[in-house]
Amino acid sequence: MASRSSNRERNRWTIDLLNIRPSDRVLEIGFGPGLAIEWLSERIVSGHVVGIDHSGVMVRQAIERNATAVKQGKVELIAGSVSALPRFEEPFDRIFSVNAVQFWSNPVDVFSNLRSLLKPDGIVATSYQPRHSGAKDQHTRAMGERIAGQLYKAGFLHIKQEFLQIRPVSVVCVIASTKQGIKTSVLSTSLPSTP
Ligand SMILES: C[S@@+](CC[C@H](N)C(=O)[O-])C[C@H]1O[C@@H](n2cnc3c(N)ncnc32)[C@H](O)[C@@H]1O
Repeated sequence: MASRSSNRERNRWTIDLLNIRPSDRVLEIGFGPGLAIEWLSERIVSGHVVGIDHSGVMVRQAIERNATAVKQGKVELIAGSVSALPRFEEPFDRIFSVNAVQFWSNPVDVFSNLRSLLKPDGIVATSYQPRHSGAKDQHTRAMGERIAGQLYKAGFLHIKQEFLQIRPVSVVCVIASTKQGIKTSVLSTSLPSTP
């Protein structure tokens, strides 16, 4: 999973969209092999990175990949489900996931919980690239709309969709916040044109 170029591209792009500051506290849901965690920990200086993933195999791989940052205490990787998140001592500036939302049984509840873990000016970013056989840009667009609707139901007011056109199929990142002034808009129409 870690070596596939589309995985690397969508993770790198999502981190770029998060506009990470060195002091940020960041939470990733479903980190898989821990690629995004690795790149994030290079940008975080005084902040903290927490990841949660329900697969023991993925947790082990990600800890191996991020051994130094875990040892330093900069990165904390937890085995657990997004449906039963642990208590966190402090709120987060950024919460994100990449190709994990499709596995959540109740995304509106999840987004609602994540909202409660955010600082008032924090943002949630949810990226998705369809990887099933026959996946097309229309599946990306449909999922972008679905995620935006779920975020809206979960109480987010400022919601924007960004697209990355890569092979074999485009990626959507839906960025949401509750506070105005962050460059987002309600159910943005910045969609690529329908073929
Ligand atoms: C397709 S992988 C994506 C991994 C990584 N984000 C990437 O883009 O390379 C989905 C990941 O989400 C995790 N996951 C799926 N459902 C989850 C849940 N309910 N709670 C926590 N992690 C979950 C899986 O274990 C897996 O590591």
